[in-house]
Amino acid sequence: CGIVGYIGWKEAAPLVIEGLKRLEYRGYDSFGVATENGDINIIKKSGKISESGADLSALVGTIGIGHTRWATHGVPNDCNAHPHTDCTGAIAVVHNGIIENYAVLKRKLIEKGHRFKSETDTEVIAHLVEEYFSGDLLAAVTAAVRHLEGSYAILVIAKDDQRIVAARKSSPLVLGIGDGEVLCASDVTPLLEHTQRAVYLEDGDVAALTASRIDVYHDGVRVERSITHIDWSVDDAKKGGFEHYMLKEIYEQPEVFYNTIKALEKDTRLPMLRIPAEITVVACGTSYHAALVFRYLAQEYSSKRVSVEFASEFKYYTPPLRDMVIAVTQSGETADTLTAIEKAKARNCSTLAVTNVLGSTVSRSADWTVFMCAGPEISVAATKSFTGQLAVFMGMVNVMADGKFTEVLAHAHRSIERVLPQEMGAAVSLLLSATEMFYVGRGVFYPVALEGALKMKEISYIHAEGYAAGELKHGPFALLSPETPVVAICTPGRTYGVMLSNVKEMKARGAPVIGIGVEGDTEVESIVDVFIPIPEDHQMVQALTVSVILQLLAYQTANALERDIDKPRNLAKSVTVE
Ligand code: G6P
Repeated sequence: CGIVGYIGWKEAAPLVIEGLKRLEYRGYDSFGVATENGDINIIKKSGKISESGADLSALVGTIGIGHTRWATHGVPNDCNAHPHTDCTGAIAVVHNGIIENYAVLKRKLIEKGHRFKSETDTEVIAHLVEEYFSGDLLAAVTAAVRHLEGSYAILVIAKDDQRIVAARKSSPLVLGIGDGEVLCASDVTPLLEHTQRAVYLEDGDVAALTASRIDVYHDGVRVERSITHIDWSVDDAKKGGFEHYMLKEIYEQPEVFYNTIKALEKDTRLPMLRIPAEITVVACGTSYHAALVFRYLAQEYSSKRVSVEFASEFKYYTPPLRDMVIAVTQSGETADTLTAIEKAKARNCSTLAVTNVLGSTVSRSADWTVFMCAGPEISVAATKSFTGQLAVFMGMVNVMADGKFTEVLAHAHRSIERVLPQEMGAAVSLLLSATEMFYVGRGVFYPVALEGALKMKEISYIHAEGYAAGELKHGPFALLSPETPVVAICTPGRTYGVMLSNVKEMKARGAPVIGIGVEGDTEVESIVDVFIPIPEDHQMVQALTVSVILQLLAYQTANALERDIDKPRNLAKSVTVE
């Protein structure tokens, strides 16, 4: 979910709505806004804010809060949409996170006579604040949040109170300080148009915001929180002439790779980090695939031992202790990854965060942080952040290998540039009627295949499975038929010969094959149905170019199928709940 608040001298609702549109990547199954003008006015609806066309003229006032939802408790309908109110309708709350003890709290509040309207965990917050309210909203929120277990970033307004009260624990919340106005949001993108001065609230902070000041309290004591200068521009966060954010972000990858490698070279801490002999990497989704690529590269080109765990699993079992735990997360806010890093800290491991977002929770929780220079990624399907993560990991492998790959990495962005205009029409036609398909590769191209399949699943809704090519024989072969296309990564190197044999085996079972190989490889071209060339280059660079090809294949297939590419159904860009 994403939340936005505004207090200042302009009409709040249009600004809050604009801000929510920028946060839709965090969830978009319903939305709502509340303003204060001597009364609390609320409009909330299921569906996407960017497509709603709702009449918002009733939302008058210069104080407003809003929410875009990714449902956890209660189906996405108008009633469960935020803001939620107390019994009197005088207190309105928006919330990102999960209140784990909401059922107990709700029962107690009902016993005290509170009547609930929705099925959400959030509504208990509104009623708790009401319970403690005796004229001072700040005091009531401070008292209420003491009862909450779980995670929350909340914004609260009340009738006749000229403030927004904000509080956070384990969910992000950043304040933007403008001229006679203050904004607040789940991340900085809604703030950029108004100010570059940001204040990140810490876990446990409660803040009272007026148009001209911010008062932050921690454990009831007033504290100072420093101002961070955000150097992302508004343009960085807009579509820049592309049909979709995803395509724009795919095209930004040469620059992302180049910038990240350059930033790493300048980061004098990296060689100092003394990357230990044994490393565990924790991550989710696309970030997990980037970590798997790292595992292959680190083991091939250095003596380090890297193990990779799903963050969501890491916290429930106790893998052998490694010296360092690296958390990879584009957003820096994925709940499972944050919990995993806390667990690593509790076990006295040193911790390193690899993230894209300055000031994100992970960067404040880990001992060290390395930033990828991807800029804001809006499309739900991760593309340029994957390349940014690979740049960080390849840079680390280079440090581990005493700089052996400096040249390789310095020119990699040119190979990425070359594959961007690749024509995909024949491959896309082969996939349009498919309902299931496979991606296969070996070695480092196995995680690349996993990521290719994930992209296809996410945005085209074709059931795509990534497999280590050798494993296909152990079961999935039973599924092969002329209706199950296979994308096979057949790049030169140790796995080349065996990949070619695998392709022939798949063809013998009738599966149409899209083969990816280096330019001029007539041998691969002659045995596959559609051949997609990449420039001949070092294996590391080929892992990048093949990844980009697979992003383009997923994008163009989804586009031909007229899918909602930037906001695929049921997904959220940042999963801030377990
Ligand atoms: C969500 C997104 C994925 C992303 C994953 C991990 O599922 O839809 O694209 O890879 O979260 O996100 P993170 O921000 O931790 O990299």
